[in-house]
Amino acid sequence: MAVEEFLKQCQQSGDAAYAAFRSLLERLEDPKTRVDSRIFLSDLYSKVGSSDDCFNKYHFRIQDIQLDQYEGYPGRKKLTMMVIPSIFVPEDWSFTFYEGLNRHPDSIFKDKIVAELGCGNGWISIAIAEKWLPEKVYGLDINPRAVKVSWINLYMNSFDEKGQPIYDVEKKTLLDRVEFHESDLLSYCRERDIQLERIVGCIPQILNPNPEAMSKLITENASEEFLHALSNYCALQGFVEDQFGLGLIARAVEEGIAVIKPTGIMIFNMGGRPGQGVCKRLFERRGFRVTRLWQTKVLQASKSFKAGDTDISALVEIEKNSPHRFEFFMGLSGDEPICARTAWAYGKAGGRISHGLSVYSCQLRQPNQVKVIFEFLKSGFQEISSSLDLSFEDDLVADEKIPFLAYLASILKENSYFPYELPAGCKRFRNLIAGFMKTYHHIPLTSDVRKHS
Ligand SMILES: C[S@@+](CC[C@H](N)C(=O)[O-])C[C@H]1O[C@@H](n2cnc3c(N)ncnc32)[C@H](O)[C@@H]1O
Repeated sequence: MAVEEFLKQCQQSGDAAYAAFRSLLERLEDPKTRVDSRIFLSDLYSKVGSSDDCFNKYHFRIQDIQLDQYEGYPGRKKLTMMVIPSIFVPEDWSFTFYEGLNRHPDSIFKDKIVAELGCGNGWISIAIAEKWLPEKVYGLDINPRAVKVSWINLYMNSFDEKGQPIYDVEKKTLLDRVEFHESDLLSYCRERDIQLERIVGCIPQILNPNPEAMSKLITENASEEFLHALSNYCALQGFVEDQFGLGLIARAVEEGIAVIKPTGIMIFNMGGRPGQGVCKRLFERRGFRVTRLWQTKVLQASKSFKAGDTDISALVEIEKNSPHRFEFFMGLSGDEPICARTAWAYGKAGGRISHGLSVYSCQLRQPNQVKVIFEFLKSGFQEISSSLDLSFEDDLVADEKIPFLAYLASILKENSYFPYELPAGCKRFRNLIAGFMKTYHHIPLTSDVRKHS
């Protein structure tokens, strides 16, 4: 197909542009037509450039993303990425997230199995593969169009403008390292029992003001508005964190506990509106140690102050009915936090409001035990899950309490009652007492009289 003809089709509508790119993807997937299709993409890029005009007129945009602003990076300086209106268009949120990933020591992705939740047009998964040479990156997204666009971006960056493969220092292409799949959070990995070493994600943190909108079926033929809304909004997930818009992250973390290897690391981008304390607690109460890798501020979109609009007014309502105070700032440089009610009034009067945006890295402190606890809680213990608190100031306390809970969970998983003990007493309890006396008081007791003699 000639470039002009392709553009004509794209011009008709966003849906038509998506259909044109979907058939181009089919030709990229077929090794027989791959080279020609990759050359076609280069011709298309030379023809339209990367301006906003192209996005408005042809419903797609191809753009270079610079990778080289980080010291000591020897590889490719830029990637070329396309985007369409029905998926997330990378902006402040994603760049902050990528910045945070760069703050971790380089080795955390090298040779690792990684999943990116909410990969959008795939640029972060591809950048991770390009920069850190992981074993495999699974880029996952619930929006089917995002997954197709991500594959196009993967082909575009795995092959050069003449359609020839681009090899890295290990003689692999990006296509060897990355794959994209449609997936609700980690469902793709859970269903295939893929064990992950790293889970990273920049996923929605605002409850959709129109809950019914979220119950629609997600297919690639759904409306552009609906598909795009998946980038910013989530539905109630049944977690206490829902009240702060953090329910989807809470679910991602709990799903992650089941599929992450014991020394695995999860990294999430989080808007700081609920306050640092709430964000950190989401991880800590589930048994994680948390580090803040990076923090910046972003302006609150001015549309959230218009009459009838969502966001801030919903938070003001929460403040009315609870002692919780959200965290906003005046302008980008203010350091004193103000609550949602003050932010709302300030914004209405024309002031500019910002909120923090942080990247958190977390790791389970007692991985195997925490996995046992969560596995058990999955079978219908919703109420206990909501109030579970595995955050302990003192490591020694954590070392005693978490294994105890894991033991309790493993017993209750087998039996719904406590078995009767032998008349001689509980062997395990006697062992624990003997161990305690030996360790802390140097009294050489054993649990069993016969053994002693
Ligand atoms: C803020 S965008 C980030 C996109 C991309 N990572 C970037 O930085 O450009 C959030 C993405 O999460 C996806 N998403 C929303 N809910 C999801 C879910 N339940 N499972 C997987 N992806 C989801 C959206 O479709 C969207 O692509």
